[in-house]
Amino acid sequence: MTSALEQRLHAELDRFRADGVYKRLNYLDSPQAPRVTMEGRGEVIILSSNNYLGLSNHPAVVAAGHAALDQFGAGTASVRFICGTFTVHRALEAALAECVGSEAALSFVSCWNANEALFATLLGPEDVIISDQLNHASIIDGIRLAKVIAKCETTVYRHADLADLEATLTAHRDRRTRLIVTDGVFSMEGDIAPLPGIVELARRHDAIVVVDDSHATGVLGASGRGTADHYDMVGSVDIITSTLGKALGGAAGGFIAASAATCDYLTQRARPQLFSNALPCTVAGSALAAVRQLRARPDLVAQLHANARYFREQLIGLGFRPLPGATPIIPVILGETSQAMRMSELLLDEGVFVTGFGYPVVPQGEARVRCQVSAAHTRADLDQALRAFAAVGRRLGLI
Ligand SMILES: Cc1ncc(COP(=O)(O)O)c(C=O)c1O
Repeated sequence: MTSALEQRLHAELDRFRADGVYKRLNYLDSPQAPRVTMEGRGEVIILSSNNYLGLSNHPAVVAAGHAALDQFGAGTASVRFICGTFTVHRALEAALAECVGSEAALSFVSCWNANEALFATLLGPEDVIISDQLNHASIIDGIRLAKVIAKCETTVYRHADLADLEATLTAHRDRRTRLIVTDGVFSMEGDIAPLPGIVELARRHDAIVVVDDSHATGVLGASGRGTADHYDMVGSVDIITSTLGKALGGAAGGFIAASAATCDYLTQRARPQLFSNALPCTVAGSALAAVRQLRARPDLVAQLHANARYFREQLIGLGFRPLPGATPIIPVILGETSQAMRMSELLLDEGVFVTGFGYPVVPQGEARVRCQVSAAHTRADLDQALRAFAAVGRRLGLI
């Protein structure tokens, strides 16, 4: 007998299909790279991955994962404080702290997990979190959790609006801790947080700045050290959260980089640290090799910036109007979700994999295809993708 829950789920899935918003998973049987092999499609160019530096299948990164598997085995067997912390975690955390310019770092199984850990652990009922309106879902859920667990106050300021942020800080001047949180690079828009203004306001209003640099670590700044590097102010952000799953090797994992005391306190009290297994050693080993690649290869970051600039300029030259920006995230707004899905499908027919995003990932009426360029794309890859955009754009009457 089918339960009422099953019936409801089937009905909703049918509605997603009818509305043209059903997400179909595409299966790959090759590693992530600028060109991948997609089941049923053959070779396609990927323009929608977070593998910004092309490190996810880099020989040194893969070899380090193998070596860590051989040295430490497959499982971590328990929580860090109960069963022992592996030396590879310590080495990774030291390398991450050095890379982003903080005193210490603590690894997590994902940045989502790091964001869940951060707010609920550090704050209490006397405190307030002040969050950018367009922050990532993991920040939003981390804040929701903190509201329930830590009973802190939470509020939102208009996206990247320093005047609104200042007014919000002033309105909460009686709070014990004012914690401002922003994405470094906003993942659906590709714009960069106005960090100098945020830090200046924080100093004046005695607030803490948290930046989620998931799309900025390995991406922004001449050395790829993140949003602070972009503004030449490395070391001025109080707390950075970020992922190991994007530019840093594309595996999985996340981290919090902050003062030694903050990381120590999180080790003592953060529930995901106390009640959940650590990052697998294979992943920690690969991530460590990826950080070392990043520190040794600023030319990869320069190539990423050059590729992003080229693709953006050529798209504009074809008649598209991508959102303005200076990051490798290049969104083209289309309006309705079904239109974004249609464009994504037609591009795939042309051998280019670009995901369409609609509600609820982005606001209603602002559905888009989001291109992401990598350092590993060759000029031939980008030009082939641009020819596909031109063909599909003409077919849909967009250009
Ligand atoms: C800003 C931001 N924070 C956090 C995450 C989640 O990272 P992870 O995959 O490590 O959980 C993402 C991933 O999309 C992100 O864009």
